[in-house]
Amino acid sequence: MKGVILHGGQGTRLRPLTYAGPKQLIPIANKPVSQYVLEDLISLGIKDIAIILGETFPELVREYYGDGSRFGVKITYINQGKALGIAHAVSLCKEFVGEDDFVVYLGDNIFQYGIAKYASLFTNERLDSMILLKEVDEPQRFGVAKLDGNGKLVKLVEKPKEHISNYAVVGVYFFSPSFFKIVGKLKPSRRNELEITDAIQLMIDDGYKVGYSFVDGWWADTGKKNDILALNATILDERIESKIDGKALNSRIEGRVSIAEGTIVENSTVRGPAIIGRNTRVIDSHIGPYTSIGDSCNIKKSSIEYSIIMDNTSIEEILNLEDSLVGRNAKIKSNNSTARKTLKLHISDYSEVEV
Ligand code: G1P
Repeated sequence: MKGVILHGGQGTRLRPLTYAGPKQLIPIANKPVSQYVLEDLISLGIKDIAIILGETFPELVREYYGDGSRFGVKITYINQGKALGIAHAVSLCKEFVGEDDFVVYLGDNIFQYGIAKYASLFTNERLDSMILLKEVDEPQRFGVAKLDGNGKLVKLVEKPKEHISNYAVVGVYFFSPSFFKIVGKLKPSRRNELEITDAIQLMIDDGYKVGYSFVDGWWADTGKKNDILALNATILDERIESKIDGKALNSRIEGRVSIAEGTIVENSTVRGPAIIGRNTRVIDSHIGPYTSIGDSCNIKKSSIEYSIIMDNTSIEEILNLEDSLVGRNAKIKSNNSTARKTLKLHISDYSEVEV
């Protein structure tokens, strides 16, 4: 089986951060969302992976993943350019896929238990396609599947206006190469995209074997700031282990905290779950819980909770930073350290805030 990661899209709901980079590179517990996707594919034993690039900073994606050798896989980049739909992106993979089965994984989707279980189901049942479903409260935000009384998959509708069911089609799709036989027949949707749901509907209509499975555990689609912060909290909660490679001097480290090499935490408290990257300095501060601080940051006389602070950012004398998503190379400082008001920020790279 080969893997295809979709790394395009404009990330409009995550502006201003997506003015500085693709949404899939936003770090969750100090690792880009799409790296969780890559690692999940690797855990299936997949070695040949295509990354489909869009118009939002494709060069940053190439720079981060390179030729894949750092991860022990071979990465092929395919340029989609304009966001003309998921099925359009997949249609560009014909040559890459060849005669193999493949799995398409949206680069901003994360699953609690990964997708290994479903990959074996797809292969064992010799299907032409398999989708994954999850019951949701707001089906109108997703592709939605209708099952008949016998549990047979009969219909897929993208962002339905009228209620069809509460079964969202999540962002992982398994295919045999027969996908490429139907994709030429697709017509653009109302939003002018070639929809993956329409492509799978065509496969059903043409008599191909299309199966489905329900996802166990949680599934996250990182659409907005609050989704990102909630996912960061969940991942820190479930996956962070205590590991102090840096130095903690005269400090209190409570709960599960990971501090990478070259980092110095001095006269501070870090309450887990929390992660601090490499070569960062935390002085006279209070970090956590549910907080990720990137590499080479400078945190001084500040208190940060339930937030993501990306690489190279400096925060000084901010007594109450909460619920915040702060880009790379930003500067936040106060010239009145007695002001105790809570600060909640969603700011992009190179922003400067003085309060
Ligand atoms: C896309 C798909 C949709 C699916 C969703 C899952 O939606 O078109 O069918 O339910 O991903 O994340 P989009 O993120 O493009 O709105």
